[in-house]
Amino acid sequence: SLEERLIHAKKKYNFNIGVISPVSLAGKPAPLAKINELAKKYDFLVVEDASHSPGAYLESDNGQKTYSASCEWTDAATVSFHPVKHICCGEGGVVLTNSSELSKRAERLRSHGITRDTDQSEKRPWYYEQVELGWNFRLTDIQAALGIEQVKRLGSSIQKRHSIAQKYDSAFAESEFCGKIDCPPLLEGHAWHLYVIRFRQSALRDQAYHFLKERGITTQVHYIPIYRHPYHAGHHKGGNFPGAEAYFSSCLSIPMHPALTTTEQEEVIKVLGDFLR
Ligand SMILES: Cc1ncc(COP(=O)(O)O)c(C=O)c1O
Repeated sequence: SLEERLIHAKKKYNFNIGVISPVSLAGKPAPLAKINELAKKYDFLVVEDASHSPGAYLESDNGQKTYSASCEWTDAATVSFHPVKHICCGEGGVVLTNSSELSKRAERLRSHGITRDTDQSEKRPWYYEQVELGWNFRLTDIQAALGIEQVKRLGSSIQKRHSIAQKYDSAFAESEFCGKIDCPPLLEGHAWHLYVIRFRQSALRDQAYHFLKERGITTQVHYIPIYRHPYHAGHHKGGNFPGAEAYFSSCLSIPMHPALTTTEQEEVIKVLGDFLR
């Protein structure tokens, strides 16, 4: 469990965790309430990576919904506006928080670490000062205009994704798929950024990728574990990550986006069935 990992990290490396960034992967909200409890107990900050999950929610037993990126159980959340994401501005993203302190800091870092909020501002309205080193992370007005339109369409685009997930789910219950792949549970609050199937025999994953590709269907592997990348490999002292390895070796993201037509989806199901039969 995460708690065991926290205790292990503290014991082995003698450092306290400052921040944990749970990823609401594929559009399924991370267990944020549980992580929030641990954050209070072990005193760390939580920044949800909600790049895949705007519009997703967790539902409590009494039917109350808590949305991903709402920062109800976290200190902040980040959302990517990359072209393949739910809200696309071309590029860029947003940091969300309910903390005015974090918000001010993020605003300052977005613009070179410069602030106009000083004790001079009444007397000298032109005055500004750089109080730390930041970047130019400003979204342009044109990008923002694009994003605002996409936010309006978020609900309908998630609905479309939901019906695609439902169709995959019922197709994969058929005999040619049974026992060979596992598909993700059809959760109500899922935002379905990705539809990731898992091959029970991991050797089939790459074969399926090529079989589909040769028939004009592009799939993808999300993701290669961080420690396998050359840059990060240098920062890990031979870690042991069986969960990440098992996921990585078996996962394949099949087409999932609001513009996917019924005919296209039926073709994906047919070709995958041909491969597995
Ligand atoms: C889960 C997740 N987090 C973060 C990012 C990075 O987003 P960006 O490239 O907009 O910084 C991505 C990009 O694909 C992502 O999938």
